[in-house]
Amino acid sequence: MQSTPDIVKPASFDLILFGGTGDLAWRKLMPALFQAFRHGSLPEGGRIIGVARDKLTDEQYRSLIETRFREVDGPKQPNADEFARFAAMLHYVRMDPSQPEDYQTLASTLAERDAATVVMYVATAPALFTTVVEQLAAAGLNTPRTRVVLEKPLGHDLASNRAINAAVGRAFGERQIFRIDHYLGKPAVQNLFALRFGNALFEPLWRRENIANIQITIAEDLGVEKRGQFYDSTGALRDMVQNHALQLLCAIAMEPPINAHADAIRDEKLKVLRSLKAWTPETLTQHVIRGQYSAGSRHGKAVPGYLDEAGVPADSDTETYVALRTEIENWRWAGVPFYIRTGKRLAAREAHITVNFRPTPHPIFKAPIGAANKLVINLQPRDGLELHLLAEGRTQRNATASSTGATQTLAPVQLDLDFDKRFGNERVGAYERLLLDVIDGRLNLFVRSDEQEEAWQWVQPILEHWQAGQMPPRPYAAGTWGPSAASAMIARDGHCWSEEA
Ligand code: BG6
Repeated sequence: MQSTPDIVKPASFDLILFGGTGDLAWRKLMPALFQAFRHGSLPEGGRIIGVARDKLTDEQYRSLIETRFREVDGPKQPNADEFARFAAMLHYVRMDPSQPEDYQTLASTLAERDAATVVMYVATAPALFTTVVEQLAAAGLNTPRTRVVLEKPLGHDLASNRAINAAVGRAFGERQIFRIDHYLGKPAVQNLFALRFGNALFEPLWRRENIANIQITIAEDLGVEKRGQFYDSTGALRDMVQNHALQLLCAIAMEPPINAHADAIRDEKLKVLRSLKAWTPETLTQHVIRGQYSAGSRHGKAVPGYLDEAGVPADSDTETYVALRTEIENWRWAGVPFYIRTGKRLAAREAHITVNFRPTPHPIFKAPIGAANKLVINLQPRDGLELHLLAEGRTQRNATASSTGATQTLAPVQLDLDFDKRFGNERVGAYERLLLDVIDGRLNLFVRSDEQEEAWQWVQPILEHWQAGQMPPRPYAAGTWGPSAASAMIARDGHCWSEEA
């Protein structure tokens, strides 16, 4: 969505990266900052200051980042000259975020110059969020020029999320708090907003009268990799549904905001979350499917089951898959099922939203059973739109007319829009986009505390149902589309998942 118009670009910035030697910093944040630098969009004269407990000089930190850049995708790697110029922005401050006196070291580094914007990016273990924010305030580092960025997971349940939000709210105003959900930074999500609110074509169709159901799929083919220990205390519901999937649901279902300002957008998303159908003991049992991968294969190679992954207890009942059915109880959507599913070690890495339109009310052509129009919004690996229509491919000769008189059979065809092909190098990755938004003070793509709490509130009954041992995960073989119960769930409504159509 477009920028808020009243933002003035700061002349310079200091971006402090707590967790500066951590996984997120080198896998996502540094590569994104480098791309922004390469694209010339990082404001000039800024500093990126890594903060961690390791004993490193600026030079050693730069070398560490340089080494890590070798693991980045080929075209995204800097050449030697580019890295030298980028590295001039990199600095390092050694500090233990739990030690109050260490914040004085940071304060003196920041006092060396008077940056127009100071960004505190807290990419540490979640257990440290509250400490870091409280210590920043205690050291007087929560000035009006400061913005704080918090990575997910923000809490473990509703109560812990509220506690973090309350602590952060004591130190910073809501307009200084940037809660990241990197799915909102994905180009396809920008395009979803553009499709819905920049074009009039679909709006009249975007409602219960025309739409049979909507499916949100975020499938990964990888397992938990090296994050077994973290993942085991998290699970798919907290890791993907509470945040990414619900944000996609909001983007697809929200009413048009009154303008492109952050709060106008967030107000509409909040209304969607508040309209989600409340869980009952019956729907918790029938409309939520919980799964865990067992051994199987990926690209023809055998892969272990979740319980055999490093860091995972042999008797873990953490879910690696969730499928659920919900409804949005408002005038636009009443009665339309929304299906969400996400999982690790599924048959493919793909994320898409499928909007299935209703079939024609009175068929005069023959058409394949179940065929109807659908719009597919592809998020990854390809980013684009597919509009599935029925067309007359061939006239059947000697065909006998059906009861409707139809002698022609329609065939499925599709209109394909590939945004990667169309916009190519102009595309900006999710973290690059979001980091620039933080530096520029644009909150549109960040999650407000009330939205986040509402999302936790909605998943909380599921967590409690599971904690009460009500629903152990169902096994599914790695490399498949998840437990068969998920297909049975959707079939009870007379629908099927997109790959089953
Ligand atoms: C993260 C989750 O938020 O999103 C990971 O913690 C998941 O478990 C990742 O793999 C998926 O992001 P993307 O952009 O690769 O789809």
